Amino acid sequence: MTVIALDLPEGDPAPQRTPPPRPKPHESALTPGDSSRYDVRFASRASGIVSSVMRDLMSLSERPEIISLAGGFPNTESFEREIFEEVAAAVARDHLTSALQYGPTEGLVELRERIVEVMAHEGARAGVDDIMVTSGGQQAIDLSIRTFVNPGDTILAEGPTYPGAVPCFTTYEARVEQIPMDDDGLRIDLVEEALTRLAAEGRPPKLLYTIPNFHNPGGVTMSLERRQRLIELAHERELLIVEDNPYGQIRFEGDPLPTLWELDDGAGWVIYASTFSKILAPGVRVGWVAAPAAVLRKMNLGKQAADLCSSTISQRVIIEYLRRHDWRDYVARLNDIYRSRRDAMLRALEEELPADAHWSRPQGGLFVWATLPDYLDTTHLLARAVDQHEVAFVPGRGAFLDGRGGNSMRLNYSGVAEPLISEGVRRIGLAVEEMAEMHRALGGG
Ligand SMILES: Cc1ncc(COP(=O)(O)O)c(C=O)c1O
Repeated sequence: MTVIALDLPEGDPAPQRTPPPRPKPHESALTPGDSSRYDVRFASRASGIVSSVMRDLMSLSERPEIISLAGGFPNTESFEREIFEEVAAAVARDHLTSALQYGPTEGLVELRERIVEVMAHEGARAGVDDIMVTSGGQQAIDLSIRTFVNPGDTILAEGPTYPGAVPCFTTYEARVEQIPMDDDGLRIDLVEEALTRLAAEGRPPKLLYTIPNFHNPGGVTMSLERRQRLIELAHERELLIVEDNPYGQIRFEGDPLPTLWELDDGAGWVIYASTFSKILAPGVRVGWVAAPAAVLRKMNLGKQAADLCSSTISQRVIIEYLRRHDWRDYVARLNDIYRSRRDAMLRALEEELPADAHWSRPQGGLFVWATLPDYLDTTHLLARAVDQHEVAFVPGRGAFLDGRGGNSMRLNYSGVAEPLISEGVRRIGLAVEEMAEMHRALGGG
């Protein structure tokens, strides 16, 4: 074997090599835009799928000149290379054969035991048999909707909702009723009204999808009183709740609140979803769902159809990491970084956005939700912001299924260094000012 010694700086970036010539695509009778052959064949569910704007904007994060406040990126720079090397070496040394092998659909037992401990840290009691490992929290959402929703079924969600859940809702052809939030999270009084109305219309919702902690994108947290009322309501009206909780431990201010799972106290009206993406790293693509046995059995079948099992390599990496290191220390470090980035963003918004704009002040999580005056459309603003000012955010419409949210936007602070947060918000402020100026020039108020 020839070993070529390369004199490289430590770590990324990868060595510069002359790229091999790109293979030419083979001759095709179809132009890239021509889908007529397939249009007649696409399933109705494929034609109706709406993409997540968030994903569409992902490519911008690869353009270094753009400051992207659009991502939902945790700060993976804080993860120490030495720890990753140690963990990866332990997997290679002690578990190579099994890590390279298929695993059980529900996930490796030792990981499920660790997940029970992670949940306990947030006061959520569960047993190993309540847990199924999923390929990211995203798969937990997909499996929940796939398991319960027929085409045309109604579901409830917050308005705005997690943009990444929108393709799940549309894939399974759900009718989504979005209920407003305020500073205390989802308006449970309006959930109650919706339940009454939908029952009268003969279409009671199959489930409510909610993100009680540090809502993505809303930035708000459901108060204790509302959590208790929601669980009462679930019990009174037999409402199934999907509690999506990726951010519960990403709290940098205030006191932790009980999960809906815990408040339900084993009554079986809550399906709980979470993930290692935010407390460890999204690249591992490992999340989990906790649910009553009858529901888990169906979800397990859905997962068999989707991907057989989650990556055994990733599961092993997480197990080895959790065995050797205290994940809570890492999360505490992340939370310190996020608190100061959140502060930088709030300061910049105060300085750069017009007086009639308002925004959330999150005590945790990764996002601020900002709302501009009605006459400003953030989808148009985004085009201008990217083209003229090289800054991106997620326009609010992506978080609604009914066209609302046109004057709002989601801003991420976790994945961007403080000077870039200030500069990014300054550029958004410029784009806002230019659009407001155009509006005035056209005779607007
Ligand atoms: C509310 C919410 N649910 C689920 C997910 C998906 O997480 P994962 O990376 O574990 O698939 C995210 C990711 O940003 C999220 O914000």
